[in-house]
Amino acid sequence: MNMSRWSMICVVAIVALVCTFLMAAAKPPSKEVKQGEYLVKGMGCGDCHTPMKMGPNGPEPDMALFLSGHPEKLVMPPAPKLPEGPWMGIFSATMTAWAGPWGASFTANLTPDKDTGLGVWTAKNFIDTIRTGRLMGKGRQVQPPMPYQAFQLMKDADLQAMFAYLQTIPRIVNKVPDPIPPQNMGAH
Ligand code: HEC
Repeated sequence: MNMSRWSMICVVAIVALVCTFLMAAAKPPSKEVKQGEYLVKGMGCGDCHTPMKMGPNGPEPDMALFLSGHPEKLVMPPAPKLPEGPWMGIFSATMTAWAGPWGASFTANLTPDKDTGLGVWTAKNFIDTIRTGRLMGKGRQVQPPMPYQAFQLMKDADLQAMFAYLQTIPRIVNKVPDPIPPQNMGAH
């Protein structure tokens, strides 16, 4: 077999490999992932979990940080002391840091990063968190304003679809701070 025959074979092999790769990359999302995307976007998870930035018409979600939670670089000063009611809370311009009678809380990174997001979570961990209001069903209490009580009304299949979609979004490394209890509010 001469050289040009070999190069022909190589070219064909490379083209086949590239095609397989492109076909895999372009694989359309499953029905479950599409349902999850519809629910996550329609239910406004991004209103709190995607940092807002200022746009020409006021605050808009910063899609480069889609669902990555309170930005770690935005270290918040102590929250101002709140007056006696009926005003109850205060939040950052990004809408990712919140303070009120429960202390301060920071929206979580929902992207599939293993260290700072939901990368190591299973669908069960996600469903248990929503069902019980405790992290993974047994950790600490999930703080306001995370509306888990509303999401408890959803069927397991829908919650599972939301989780499946969240595992497909771009991974963003962003370590969100832990909540601050009310008694420590002065110290931050
Ligand atoms: C009104 C604001 C708000 C909305 C809307 C919201 N969240 Fe949250 N979420 C939060 C806050 C704040 C936290 C952090 C609470 C804490 O630290 O205890 C949180 C935490 C979580 C957690 C816990 C993750 C972890 O690692 O701590 C999950 C999972 C979650 N949210 C999923 C969702 C999903 C899915 C939606 C949409 C269906 C959603 N959230 C909508 C505010 C919100």
